[in-house]
Amino acid sequence: MTPAALTGLDLLATAVILVDNSDVLRHMNPAAENLLEISGPHVVGQSIADVFADHELLAGALQYARKNNCSFSEHDLAIAVSGRSRMHLTCTVTPIEPGGAFDLEGCIVEFRQIEQQLRIAREERVMDQSVANRELMRNLAHEIKNPLGGIRGAAQLLDRELENPALHEYTQVIMKEADRLQALMSRLLSPHRIPRPTHLNIHEVLERVRSVLLAEFHKTISIQRDYDVSLPYVYGDNEQLIQAMLNVARNAAQALTESGATEGVITLKTRAARQVTLARKRYRHAIEVSITDNGPGIPPEISERVFYPLVSGRDTGSGLGLTIAQNFVSQHNGTLTFESAPGKTCFTVLLPVAESPEHAGQGQVS
Ligand SMILES: Nc1ncnc2c1ncn2[C@@H]1O[C@H](COP(=O)(O)OP(=O)(O)OP(=O)(O)O)[C@@H](O)[C@H]1O
Ligand SMILES: [Mg+2]
Repeated sequence: MTPAALTGLDLLATAVILVDNSDVLRHMNPAAENLLEISGPHVVGQSIADVFADHELLAGALQYARKNNCSFSEHDLAIAVSGRSRMHLTCTVTPIEPGGAFDLEGCIVEFRQIEQQLRIAREERVMDQSVANRELMRNLAHEIKNPLGGIRGAAQLLDRELENPALHEYTQVIMKEADRLQALMSRLLSPHRIPRPTHLNIHEVLERVRSVLLAEFHKTISIQRDYDVSLPYVYGDNEQLIQAMLNVARNAAQALTESGATEGVITLKTRAARQVTLARKRYRHAIEVSITDNGPGIPPEISERVFYPLVSGRDTGSGLGLTIAQNFVSQHNGTLTFESAPGKTCFTVLLPVAESPEHAGQGQVS
């Protein structure tokens, strides 16, 4: 391993270890020494089985990343350094490129501390907010829809009776605005269709989203795919999942187009995730879908409220896309979260995978 590459690792604030293909620990940076409370020189050269008491999940993550030659995240890795109490960490394992700066055949493992309580509290808040959103939408739509038909009908009658042609302009405005509101109400009510779940391939969902977006935005954006085709099926409602992903991806395409980006790229990525807690329930397996764009980012003044109904940063937006997407994802017991900064916005959907072995490993794009 080259000293320059290792010095780079040692300067990182993230806890990182290097493990070779025989599961031997080859390097530990100071951030990892701090987090794990061990001295690197004492453990380097030892097998991970000797260093960590519960090493099975870590070994499984290493094996998965190596076998599939892709990065793999373990969302709740319970691990204990021999003789100490267990810690809950998130770990991401990435295979090292052969011939790269590390000159090592193995993997780089990053550890992050999960502030478990904080995360659960945040998820509960999002869930409660999403229930409140749904309730608000239902009430609002109900209150507006009924009188709206009457208003439109009366304007139409008035329009026919008017003798002064100049006045038609006013009745036309009433009718047009009533129609616009009607369309908005129909969108508000659409999430209440009863879901029809089936075992489905998440990549087929994403391919639909991709073709719809390309038809609409092929002049301004390109779409990259980074799929883990070994993913299992998801049990869900095809139309709802397409709509949820499309709402998120369309926002990205609109942000890129409206900002005039010349090299707008949207990346659709899928990965396996394990040991996740979603909607207060623990799942051994989940699917992580991320939709990333290199656009201007979510305007900071609305970023805390983007999932609320009618919050929009666009002149022509109705502010319902993300509310509907979040409702659909939470109806699948999943979560929809995002991180955004100028140049990179990433929405992540985590969907649980039902335990049914006969549907495992069938996520290939057909
Ligand atoms: N990828 C993104 N990049 C930049 N801004 C975004 C992105 N995704 C969402 N936003 C911001 O979040 C706002 C809310 O999005 P949402 O989809 O809920 O509503 P909308 O797009 O304005 O309207 P609608 O989807 O109902 O037509 C958007 O108006 C936009 O300002
Ligand atoms: Mg939208």
